[in-house]
Amino acid sequence: MSYQAEYSKSIETPELFWAEKAEALAWFKKPQTILSQDENGIDRWFADGELNTAYLALDYHVENGRADQLAIIYDSPVTGTKRQLSYRELRDEVAKFAGVLKAQGVEKGDRVVIYMPMVPEALVAMLAVARLGAIHSVVFGGFAPHELAVRIDDAEPKVMVTASCGIEVSKVIPYKPMLDEAIEKSAHKPDACIVLQRPQVEAELQAGRDLDWQQAMADAEPADCVPVKGTDPLYILYTSGTTGKPKGVVRDNGGHAVALNYSMKAIYNMEPGDVFWAASDVGWVVGHSYIVYGPLLAGCTTIVYEGKPVRTPDAGAFWRVCEEYGAKALFAAPTAFRAIKKEDPEAAELAKYDLSRLETIFMAGERLDPPTYHWTIEKTGKPVVDHWWQTETGWAICGNLVGVEKKEPKPGSATVPVPGFNVQILDPEGNELPAGEQGSIAIKLPLPPSCLPTIWGDFERFRTGYLNDFPGYYCSGDGGYKDEDGYVFIMGRTDDVINVAGHRLSTGEMEEIVAGHSAVAECAVIGINDPLKGQQPVGLVLLKDGVDVDEAELEAELVALVRKEIGAVACFKRAVVVQRLPKTRSGKILRKLLRQIADGQDYNIPSTIDDPASLPEIEEIMGRHGLVTA
Ligand code: COA
Ligand code: AMP
Repeated sequence: MSYQAEYSKSIETPELFWAEKAEALAWFKKPQTILSQDENGIDRWFADGELNTAYLALDYHVENGRADQLAIIYDSPVTGTKRQLSYRELRDEVAKFAGVLKAQGVEKGDRVVIYMPMVPEALVAMLAVARLGAIHSVVFGGFAPHELAVRIDDAEPKVMVTASCGIEVSKVIPYKPMLDEAIEKSAHKPDACIVLQRPQVEAELQAGRDLDWQQAMADAEPADCVPVKGTDPLYILYTSGTTGKPKGVVRDNGGHAVALNYSMKAIYNMEPGDVFWAASDVGWVVGHSYIVYGPLLAGCTTIVYEGKPVRTPDAGAFWRVCEEYGAKALFAAPTAFRAIKKEDPEAAELAKYDLSRLETIFMAGERLDPPTYHWTIEKTGKPVVDHWWQTETGWAICGNLVGVEKKEPKPGSATVPVPGFNVQILDPEGNELPAGEQGSIAIKLPLPPSCLPTIWGDFERFRTGYLNDFPGYYCSGDGGYKDEDGYVFIMGRTDDVINVAGHRLSTGEMEEIVAGHSAVAECAVIGINDPLKGQQPVGLVLLKDGVDVDEAELEAELVALVRKEIGAVACFKRAVVVQRLPKTRSGKILRKLLRQIADGQDYNIPSTIDDPASLPEIEEIMGRHGLVTA
């Protein structure tokens, strides 16, 4: 089928389209109601279907001839460990760990927070929660205790699962003390914590609350799959919004399984038995969808890589893994390839490996800059697919559907809308814009399966954050345009969200932290261009009257504060003192203008500006500190 036929069918007859795609799954009870509305008036898929996502990802394959096929290949250069689990072995571990959770009282609908490094047990924990019909919430290991505490209070988990440590290149990072500190800080207290002891660090266990993973597994009875409704939640994944409170994106079971299973062939051209490698982390949406659920739903082998693209041990790491396991697709953030390019510009490391089984390289998570795109194609000889997506959707909104019909790529474009996504460019009044004109990228409702139906515990935030701006559309928060051929170009966020090394962060949250320092009256945090990480956050700080501080000392304190509150992953390394911040007459900081100055762009002075003289002054200060990166 051609892309156009597939896409048109998905938009003109969405129920028919998705009912057919749902046929590919072994539901316990096939859905009769394909699309309906919930009590909030939100479109929901497969409401009366019954399934279990872990069953589809594991037991189904064990029962249908894949028991001995590898499900997980674990490769950890940071610990010098490799391990492989067949579908049967993984199913058995998951069933047992589900038994461990069940013994701790975890039932359908209960939440389990998982704070783990990239080890197979992280996947075991996620799938075990799904097996019980419970809801997991995985928190990325680079987040500090405060961030973990915020998520504990929001998700209110019955049980938490962690490991004694993570390993960042050669640095051992004890996780358990961070978990203890987070629980100390949170108002909600979990009943139990299950701790995977790793040889690098022995975690102290708190009697009466903490359990040792191995011991608990030794005593466990395997638990069966619990059927859930299509609309029952599978997981909550917190993502950065414009404020300090992260948004708990809710993913339901039915739509997620159908969309991800469809995507594995349509977007990634994967067949059952193929090896798929998403070099991400289970703490991010890419990890949820394409390290865990997508490949396993489709009967593929997934690679769990505990390492970096460089330094573990060198810039050949990605190519070594691709060769060793015969990965057919590699998916990572552009930052990873920029890091490889920086260390090995001539691709001498790459030349050591046989990449003949690698078909396509996929990139997402941040803007793919043309130099990185061209370098990767030139050096690997492989097609590179840039695809655009968000935690909120759980899968790609735009891409080049190599499993349907490969389009001629255009550098700088994420190609065309994925079937199910009616992507439109809107002006501020909500009118659809013609080709070539830039505006807000919105998706006409209904959203296809897998997209969020709400923010956990806060439907109002979902409505006001995504649906209010343009009635009848989901507002993505990204700006961009479509060209004459319908190719979509993503130009970046229109809000206070930035992307640092493929990690989504909130500048609003950083501002709240910086403004909490006793010397700071006000501040603006903006993302500036960074040649490696895409963007990096920078604080522009206004001091309280009469405060006299050493600017370098203040910067160090602010950097430490953000690192302590959000975590190392925030990469907040620069803060400079300014005399004034450009504001509107109503007192709103003109952040867009600051971003334009930082990008060395021409800008118009808005008529609403209160103090135009603040602009040359701030431009001079930013220039002097090397913060203008044309
Ligand atoms: N646990 C604990 N700390 C973590 C962590 C984790 N899971 N992940 C990152 N950190 C820490 C890092 O050690 C680093 O700490 P430092 O400031 O003490 O050095 C900090 O957070 C920043 O990490 P990062 O931005 O990743 O920088 P890096 O120098 O360690 O690595 C890259 C740079 C480009 C190699 C790396 O960012 C990368 O591979 N990026 C791809 C991102 C990705 O996969 N995104 C997922 C979406 S597809
Ligand atoms: P996350 O929710 O962490 O996946 O981040 C989603 C955001 O990352 C999007 O809203 C975009 O701003 C950005 N993003 C993701 N993929 C791309 C892409 N291919 N091109 C440009 N930006 C992207």
